[in-house]
Amino acid sequence: MTSPLFQPIEFRQLKLPNRIMVSPMCQYSATDGNASDWHLIHLGQLALGGAGLLCIEATAVEAIGRITPACLGLYSDDNEAALQRVLSAVRAHADTPLAIQLAHAGRKASSYAPWDGGKLIAPDAGGWVPIAPSALAFSPSEPPPREMNAADLARVRGVRARGAARCAPRLRRH
Ligand SMILES: Cc1cc2nc3c(=O)[nH]c(=O)nc-3n(C[C@H](O)[C@H](O)[C@H](O)COP(=O)(O)O)c2cc1C
Repeated sequence: MTSPLFQPIEFRQLKLPNRIMVSPMCQYSATDGNASDWHLIHLGQLALGGAGLLCIEATAVEAIGRITPACLGLYSDDNEAALQRVLSAVRAHADTPLAIQLAHAGRKASSYAPWDGGKLIAPDAGGWVPIAPSALAFSPSEPPPREMNAADLARVRGVRARGAARCAPRLRRH
């Protein structure tokens, strides 16, 4: 009997050839949110692996929503162009269905990359003050984030929608 894992599945118009999804994996390899050659290589090789769906790493919808200063973003025209370059190269060689994890890091934001310890970066060391639904620190040894107000909630809703509009046409297979 063939395993269900290798059977096609459909989610509305999205038809996947099998049920294997490559999880989103932060690469901490972007500059000002812009995808780099590393992303091209990373996503390119994963797109050739035969998975039914490839999900692009957590991609911040505003700069202060990045986990680290080197996280991928989709909050500027430069970010959009950099991701476009990567996706065009991937699409030229693979028709794997693509997804993206649009993200806001909340209180996890402004951290060092895991290989640099993962702790909070202070604003005077190149970090920023994270925002979150509540002013609860990520770790007891770190300062708390700023609690979001109504304007923050409205802004984040807007930038998330803008991020979706920036990537939706580029993820489609043509
Ligand atoms: C290098 C690395 C980067 C990751 N980046 C993300 C991410 O961007 N978004 C996310 O939701 N999870 C991320 N994760 C978590 C994975 O998506 C996955 O949920 C986790 O590895 C647990 O899955 P597993 O039990 O199959 O290992 C990451 C994991 C690894 C190892």
